[in-house]
Amino acid sequence: HQLADESVSSETLLQSPLQLQQGHNLPLPPQLYGAQRRNSAGLDLAEAETRDTLGDALTTLPVVVVQMDEAGKVEPAMQRARAAFPAWAARPVDERAAMLQAAAERLELGLPRFAALLVQEARKCWPDAIAEVRETIDFLRYYANEALRLQAPQAMPGPTGERNTLQLRARGVWVAISPWNFPLAIFTGQIAAALVTGNCVVAKPAEQTPRVATEMLSLLHAAGVPTSVLQMLHGTGETVGAALVAHPGVDGVVFTGSTSVAKGIQRALAARDGPIVPLIAETGGINAMLVDASALPEQVADAVLQSAFRSAGQRCSALRLLCLHEGIAARVLELVVGAASELRAGDPADFATDVGPLIDSEAFINVKRHIGRLRERGRVLLAPSVPAQPHHLVAAHVFEISNVADATHEIFGPVLQVVRWKGDPAAVIDAINALGYGLTLGIHTRIDRRAAALAARSRAGNVYVNRNMIGAVVGVQPFGGEALSGTGPKAGGPHYLLRFCSEQVVTINT
Ligand code: SER
Repeated sequence: HQLADESVSSETLLQSPLQLQQGHNLPLPPQLYGAQRRNSAGLDLAEAETRDTLGDALTTLPVVVVQMDEAGKVEPAMQRARAAFPAWAARPVDERAAMLQAAAERLELGLPRFAALLVQEARKCWPDAIAEVRETIDFLRYYANEALRLQAPQAMPGPTGERNTLQLRARGVWVAISPWNFPLAIFTGQIAAALVTGNCVVAKPAEQTPRVATEMLSLLHAAGVPTSVLQMLHGTGETVGAALVAHPGVDGVVFTGSTSVAKGIQRALAARDGPIVPLIAETGGINAMLVDASALPEQVADAVLQSAFRSAGQRCSALRLLCLHEGIAARVLELVVGAASELRAGDPADFATDVGPLIDSEAFINVKRHIGRLRERGRVLLAPSVPAQPHHLVAAHVFEISNVADATHEIFGPVLQVVRWKGDPAAVIDAINALGYGLTLGIHTRIDRRAAALAARSRAGNVYVNRNMIGAVVGVQPFGGEALSGTGPKAGGPHYLLRFCSEQVVTINT
């Protein structure tokens, strides 16, 4: 293929795409039981039997009205959680881990029902809904096993005559604020991590997705978690969220959502009475993919379609800015725009839909506003119109812009911006870093030294080479970023539970 001004020797070529794909599909650690291991087969919805089960699940969902809570319920919930904390923290880790495992078992059995809820309430397409239930099962099992791994007191070598022991301890009561775009997996992952380490939780799910959260809460209670240890309040961020964060009895906040709200929480925590407490924030990104002239155009096009348009672009990991070397840009754009124009926007419950709806009218108006701005300031490569109602649909859009720095906003929808570059790819990475975010980065190159050097130069927390850049796998691709994209630690990684704990060292003079 065309190498333009790049020089590639056979030694520097990366593995073939096929080999890389096999590498990505390596068996998962045994503790992950079956959830993600069955992903590739499960996501293929070709089996009529699977469709029937899922379709039945959707039509038999009962209508449930969820009441939004008042901020006035925060005080009693906090008091109840504080009272429950000592006994919960004192329980053996094995018992808490067993509850998470039991919840995972129940969720496996309830997969069609939960997937249907995600289609109905979160407007997810079936493959995304099924993948999210499986990711949730993985979170439950992974954190259960991680807690068992971390529970043992650690002897610290020291001077003779003293015995030093480091022990992790629960912090207290955590507030868990979760988003609508992963209303099951992120909601449950936050809660599971806090609970298994011995903390109590007051959760506030996104107001757009209260039913999924309510069902999952019931499932966790049925799996053995006491109702005083895990409570939930429904409401908006401005009311219930703000009152929770301002409460002096809170010992930690775990939040996934927008950067501006994360900063607001940080300010509120600093301003209130009470202890200095940790904030775990996972926010957004203006995520880029850098493609050099040695890349494989078909592989790039497939990765772009998955990364930019799957889930209608409503993932914090989604591709927003495609940076194409000018020697390969024409061919890649021909493929990307051609394939994107074939994507079908429609009803999420329809198995043929590729690009589902946006979550609500506010999101729709916001994305449309950005599309209007890009129509004026960029070059339109693809801007089809589809009937927006009744689903708040936006079809896949592609715009060319002049510079990386012109990508000024995270557009949370199926809107891809493209820039062309030439010269030094390190300068492109620097420009991407200068946008201030650091969540995901895609690199497409067949020069292995370059891939390593660009990954090292990037501040992105998750870098994907020669593949798509979404769908981080629990326990395999710990997920999360830095700077405007969040605080870390990475969800689904070996350091996550540590942030939910304080540490105590006991020194005994022997
Ligand atoms: N964890 C998701 C992904 O990797 C995004 O939230 O796509």
